[in-house]
Amino acid sequence: MTGIFSPVRLGDLQLSNRIVMAPMTRDRAGPGDVPTALMAEYYRQRASAGLIVTEGTQPSPAGKGYWRTPGIHSSAQIEGWARVAAAVHGEGGKLVMQLMHCGRASVKANKDPDAETVAPSAIRCPDPIPGPDGVPVQPDLPRALETAEIAGVIAEYVTAAKNARAAGIDGVELHCASGYLPMQFLSTNTNHRTDQYGGDAGNRVRFAVETLAALAAAIGAGRVGFRICPGVKFNGMADADPVETYTTLLRAADGLGLAYLHLIHIPLDGIDALEMVRANWHGAVIENGGLTLQSASAVLAAAKAEAVSFGRPFIANPDFVARLKSGAALAAANPATIYTGSGDDQRGYTDYPMLG
Ligand SMILES: Cc1cc2nc3c(=O)[nH]c(=O)nc-3n(C[C@H](O)[C@H](O)[C@H](O)COP(=O)(O)O)c2cc1C
Repeated sequence: MTGIFSPVRLGDLQLSNRIVMAPMTRDRAGPGDVPTALMAEYYRQRASAGLIVTEGTQPSPAGKGYWRTPGIHSSAQIEGWARVAAAVHGEGGKLVMQLMHCGRASVKANKDPDAETVAPSAIRCPDPIPGPDGVPVQPDLPRALETAEIAGVIAEYVTAAKNARAAGIDGVELHCASGYLPMQFLSTNTNHRTDQYGGDAGNRVRFAVETLAALAAAIGAGRVGFRICPGVKFNGMADADPVETYTTLLRAADGLGLAYLHLIHIPLDGIDALEMVRANWHGAVIENGGLTLQSASAVLAAAKAEAVSFGRPFIANPDFVARLKSGAALAAANPATIYTGSGDDQRGYTDYPMLG
């Protein structure tokens, strides 16, 4: 039984249905990058998803790129996330935290004054990113990480994952897409290193694979997933050969026994990314990207994925699962309020109604 409303197990994560809420940055963390009570309410409202992947969350002050994104490196942040986890679990839901280290996709004014911007190589992200108040500005010129520093960055991810578990969160997802730190190591145009973390694909995947192995050792492989988007150009990514890079990554990560691979599926020259995943990865797959009930059900029926994720539909439809079940119309999100609001401002965040 592989219907979209049927339960499924991804590693140690038992989901009540195969509908995953995709990670979405909403820029509403409080002072100190602490999750607010309103964030707990937002996730509680959406807990009928089989699994929620939280918004990208920085494992360390240096990993912060954008304004008002939450962290998981201070005790106040852990307490804030514990309120989120309790709210989701109280509704019978499950949640994993997306660990997002932005690397070079970062603006100094968005983060602690003594937090550095680091990357595999000292190459600036060409695309403006939102600075304070969301106004787009030029990203920082990053400092290239020394080889000897890399174990410390991986250790930050490990501490973050332990913190997430201490907060009661069910697992973590390593963000290896969208031009953030792991993808900066993966892509030929952002990784010009000459040590064992740069050069051929086997070296460029090393950072992601070592991080995944360390996360698995720390909290259990069955509670660790990772997210990729082969070929994405966001944040100035331009890999010379995404098929080679991701084939190498998938094969290297395949033996770790992880909970799932989360694919943002976009067109890729000469190959279908989901077929590439299936040919090189034997674990569970969550498929994502512009899905509808019909297209998602077809992917599941063909056994091309074990679960499917939806991002934008969850913004304005907290009861998205119930609406899919009943065939009810979906509400449209207001683009003006996606990243706005702070404190107890509910507009465009927690004020989208459930159907009666
Ligand atoms: C407002 C917004 C914020 C997002 N933030 C993240 C993020 O923090 N991490 C991530 O991996 N993807 C992020 N995404 C991408 C979504 O997870 C998803 O891959 C994308 O929206 C495509 O799925 P959809 O067509 O179902 O919306 C974001 C998307 C949106 C619309």
